[in-house]
Amino acid sequence: MTILITGGCGFIGRHVAEELLNNGYEVRILDALIDQVHGDAEVSVPDGAEIIQGDVRDKDAVRAALAGVNGVIHLAAEVGVGQSMYEIARYVGCNDLGTAVLLEAMIGLPVKTIVVASSMSVYGEGLYRTGDGKRLGYVRRRMQHVKQGQWDPLDRDNQPLTPVATDEEKPVDLASIYALTKYAQERQVLIFGEAYGLDAVALRLFNVFGAGQALSNPYTGVLANFGSRLANGQPPMIFEDGRQRRDFVHVRDVATAFRLALEKPAAAGHVINIGSGQAYSIADVATLLADAMGVPEIGPDIMNKARSGDIRNCFADISKARELLGFEPKYRLENTLAPFAEWVRQTGAVDRGAEMKRQLEERGLVS
Ligand SMILES: NC(=O)c1ccc[n+]([C@@H]2O[C@H](COP(=O)([O-])OP(=O)(O)OC[C@H]3O[C@@H](n4cnc5c(N)ncnc54)[C@H](O)[C@@H]3O)[C@@H](O)[C@H]2O)c1
Repeated sequence: MTILITGGCGFIGRHVAEELLNNGYEVRILDALIDQVHGDAEVSVPDGAEIIQGDVRDKDAVRAALAGVNGVIHLAAEVGVGQSMYEIARYVGCNDLGTAVLLEAMIGLPVKTIVVASSMSVYGEGLYRTGDGKRLGYVRRRMQHVKQGQWDPLDRDNQPLTPVATDEEKPVDLASIYALTKYAQERQVLIFGEAYGLDAVALRLFNVFGAGQALSNPYTGVLANFGSRLANGQPPMIFEDGRQRRDFVHVRDVATAFRLALEKPAAAGHVINIGSGQAYSIADVATLLADAMGVPEIGPDIMNKARSGDIRNCFADISKARELLGFEPKYRLENTLAPFAEWVRQTGAVDRGAEMKRQLEERGLVS
């Protein structure tokens, strides 16, 4: 079986390639090696993977990459919530048009399966329960509340809500251009699968972490950003009060999930959350990482400002992944921070956090 991984030179793609090669697949990668992710760094992919340098929007490159392929894992994308709010054409162009070109090129080919990387960002706010236990799938913070430092969303009567694990039944609520593009990618792939009789699966990834994340890209990867700051003696910059909660899933678990999605027929036609099933506050993560990096004295810089497009809480209910894929996360954040910290130190990260903050502030996207 030959699998094409688009964006396979990226953080997740390299791990997916390794997972597939270790399980007897042939792997081909199509990747444009974009500057924001790769800079001048030498690109290394696991031994045995074939690389084609090319853009998913380039029909000819995509056709060449698809020759002899049985399945596709589609990861190529511009990745970054904040940046997507001002580089709109770039995000929509790469993510949506890129997916469209890829799918069009697949028509008539004997590709049996396609798995696309979607994102937790499509949910907007995660799932909440009211004081009397009612499930609230559509919660939005009011801008005027956020500006006053009321970070947690409230119900219609301004009563507090309890965040709970988000399952796939929660309605989509797109709060950023990035999220919009991920949702469009997901729908394109599922509609295409249905129409052409392919097994199509969309994995909604939560916050993926692990060695190999682009430390130079300040728009994505909470842990990579915090690591870059700490490695340069700077405090991690945290928007709001740091009590917002997320789900951090290890990249090796994510790679396994992609393989399972290719292999399990029961997954076809589904969107499936891939997370750890654990919730961590962002401030706690910064503290844990500072400890792991041997700089416990560097506490986070809590900015008490909100970033446009950000949500307050979202962490995964992974029951569906367990049921359809047999997915079980193996790596917990607190057990894997030491090797992650070591990798950040060895990599010599450039800290672009201040530049990211300035870019957002200049455009009025921080308040
Ligand atoms: N990292 C996360 O936490 C996370 C969470 C949810 C979803 N995702 C999704 O997973 C996928 C992979 O993310 P990642 O963290 O590995 O990102 P990454 O930036 O490390 O990798 C993306 C890869 O795609 C390539 N690429 C970008 N535009 C391309 C184009 N037009 N044509 C061909 N290649 C192109 C880049 O060069 C890069 O190698 C993305 O679709 C992303 O939206 C990631």
